Amino acid sequence: MVELVPSILSADFSKLAVEIEAAERGGGSVIHIDIMDGHFVPNLTMGPPVVKSLRKVTSLPLDCHLMIDNADKFIAEFAEAGANWIAVHYEACRHLHRTLQLIAQHGMEPAVVINPATRVDFLIEVLPMVHHVLVMSVNPGFGGQKFIPFSLDKIRQLAGLRAELNLNYRIEVDGGVAHDTIASVVEAGADLLVAGSAVFDSGHPEREARVLLKMAREAEQQRQGQNFHSRQAAAI
Ligand code: DX5
Ligand code: ZN
Repeated sequence: MVELVPSILSADFSKLAVEIEAAERGGGSVIHIDIMDGHFVPNLTMGPPVVKSLRKVTSLPLDCHLMIDNADKFIAEFAEAGANWIAVHYEACRHLHRTLQLIAQHGMEPAVVINPATRVDFLIEVLPMVHHVLVMSVNPGFGGQKFIPFSLDKIRQLAGLRAELNLNYRIEVDGGVAHDTIASVVEAGADLLVAGSAVFDSGHPEREARVLLKMAREAEQQRQGQNFHSRQAAAI
């Protein structure tokens, strides 16, 4: 089942708990937290103390997207803060396999992220050990950017590899996921739909989350129908 993953980067930071509750009422089922260090990406945001505070106000999984160098140094702190999922960038980890192991050793779900310019093929070796793969459909660093269309090919490729290799990682997409793009992202095969500005910018997160989730569910039904028909055609 597809899930809507509101990204609090576009929320009002002075009332994060209220914003999260509203997005949750609208159907958001995982909370995406963007951790930026001003070094790997040209922006600064939040760290483990914010995760720790948010842990007290929601029981939803906290999906931490680390856009930082030296991720290893902070894994224990994120675990103590109550993070559930930790995604690290392929481009920021010199020893990616070790970092993913470290995340799992701390009781969290490990995930890998790729930037728009990074090929899906580079992930083959680590696919069996990740909870999800995060496809960046904008260059990381800021909310409100335009969706990069070739990301759809990468989502399709990851869905194909998952079937071919008999794996069960989930496919998450982040950046420019909004009312005009969410259906095509789901049709391509994404399961976890991160949306920041589309949920929060209007000031009505509950309403927007509900609309986006409805669009995603409809696209998912279409996708399931198409898969069914192609399986039937293959059987003939
Ligand atoms: C960007 C972040 C995203 C951001 C997406 O670097 O990783 O999670 O919040 O924002 P929108 O949905 O506005 O593109
Ligand atoms: Zn993100």
